[in-house]
Amino acid sequence: MSVLITGGAGYIGSHTIVELLNIGTDVVVIDNLSNSSLESLSRVKSITAQQVTFYEGDILDKALLRKIFSENNIEAAIHFAGLKAVGESVEQPLKYYTNNVTGTIVLCEVMAEFGIKNLVFSSSATVYGDPASLPILESFPASATNPYGQSKLVVEYILADLHHSDPSWNIACLRYFNPVGAHDSGLIGEDPNDIPNNLMPFISQVAIGKREKLMVFGDDYATPDGTGVRDYIHVVDLAVGHLKALDKLKTNCGLVTYNLGTGQGYSVLEMVKAFEKASNKKIKYDIVARRPGDIGACYADPKKAKIELNWAATHNLDDMVNSSWKWQSQNPKGYSD
Ligand code: NAD
Ligand code: UD1
Repeated sequence: MSVLITGGAGYIGSHTIVELLNIGTDVVVIDNLSNSSLESLSRVKSITAQQVTFYEGDILDKALLRKIFSENNIEAAIHFAGLKAVGESVEQPLKYYTNNVTGTIVLCEVMAEFGIKNLVFSSSATVYGDPASLPILESFPASATNPYGQSKLVVEYILADLHHSDPSWNIACLRYFNPVGAHDSGLIGEDPNDIPNNLMPFISQVAIGKREKLMVFGDDYATPDGTGVRDYIHVVDLAVGHLKALDKLKTNCGLVTYNLGTGQGYSVLEMVKAFEKASNKKIKYDIVARRPGDIGACYADPKKAKIELNWAATHNLDDMVNSSWKWQSQNPKGYSD
């Protein structure tokens, strides 16, 4: 039996595949390589000494999905494939809704045709909008401020309706907080195509000399040092969370939703300081205006996942920044090195 991994060549997918192969689970990957390269999967093979069945193509391609389900003995899917750049989603909303929403619908249609109704979906803490209080519980009201976030929320609603219409579906919506870090080997990591939107890859590129300095978006938030606070989570912890979610699906759990975060928030300046220590480099920065759409602080209450999935993050901040630096310094140009 295999698990289908959509978007498996990407950042979180590649780390999850390593963990799945390490416990002896076969994986089948579909990825259109729109935001990744095949090199990540060849590095996965070096780390695990195991093979991955790979199909290059789009989840919108129903015929290809049917072929994949016919040719492999798939028992569940982990659905990472999606576009994730917030700014781009504001400029090109239809592209985001087509890819993220229609893509998920096509995947679910083909899964239903083949009677495979076990799905793990990559959702995001972005669905909490600007929370009224902290830490964030799964029961907090959902909202979104941009088409990317809206696409995640719409998919969550669609999956809830799907489960309601056919309770034999088992679906885990995993709301990731801020994934950072890289595999211990330094062989796989986050490899943004363009100028990074997110904090950690930006800091890494300043440390390696690719960018001159970081722009810190605002120091007037109601946080201890005025800069934004987030719940950064090591990507390997996140990957392990997916294995636990697959176990949960086997209990016939129906539709379940979990926060995957550490419960601990760090500010932008704390992240800069930690990265300086890991890299032994000075990270130059300027304080600039707030980024539109940003919130002051966001961190999870991860208790539900602890109790129901027996999952909790085990990597601390040093592990996150050290592994990010190892990946960045060993691969200054990412996978194109
Ligand atoms: P990523 O871009 O590295 O990986 C996504 C992969 O999906 C890429 O390899 C891309 O080529 C592929 N893909 C995109 N559209 C596709 C399509 N239509 N058909 C086939 N393949 C397609 O991103 P990631 O950071 O690994 O994120 C994985 C998932 O987690 C995404 O759905 C993202 O929205 C979600 N998520 C990410 C974060 C984060 O900060 N990284 C936070 C919350 C949620
Ligand atoms: C961003 C997205 C969010 C998405 C998440 C994970 C926006 C408005 N939000 O959230 O929808 O789910 O990434 O992909 O884009 N920062 C700087 N300078 C930088 C980059 C970031 O100061 O160059 C600050 C931000 O203001 C924030 C923190 O660093 O306080 C983390 O930012 P980021 O990594 O972009 O994550 P989020 O803002 O949580």
